[in-house]
Amino acid sequence: MRKGNILLAGLLMVLGGCQPEVTAKSAEKRPVDKPAEWRLADKTGCFMCHKTGKNLLGPSWEAVSERYRNNPNAEAYLMDKITQGGSGAWSNKDMPAYSEDLLSEANLRILVKYILSL
Ligand code: HEC
Repeated sequence: MRKGNILLAGLLMVLGGCQPEVTAKSAEKRPVDKPAEWRLADKTGCFMCHKTGKNLLGPSWEAVSERYRNNPNAEAYLMDKITQGGSGAWSNKDMPAYSEDLLSEANLRILVKYILSL
């Protein structure tokens, strides 16, 4: 358990260049209370860095939704951003790239629509 956490922390530091927030997941409500989209995001690992309602390593998804609310290209832009990864929109920390083998286009679209609905 301890060892696993240390390994995960190391991985997160490599990915995000920052300290992980270990309590992020346990602070959320039980997964069964959440919609399918939330569980998909959880399974994909998004909540290692994002949390609804709070800026973690990445911006809170409510803040993302707020920023792109009136942007007609938001869906295409965010799908591209998640596929390519990169930094600069919120901070100098990198959003990791999720290629097709990590996240299918269909699931990516579901997540982006979910984020924009928050
Ligand atoms: C290793 C940490 C990490 C993980 C895992 C992660 N993100 Fe991010 N995410 C970030 C960071 C850091 C940013 C801010 C990037 C920037 O400033 O351009 C970000 C930004 C975003 C944005 C806003 C992009 C923009 O240009 O405004 C969206 C949407 C997003 N992430 C969705 C996701 C989704 C969906 C997943 C899971 C499939 C995910 N993230 C997993 C760190 C992460």
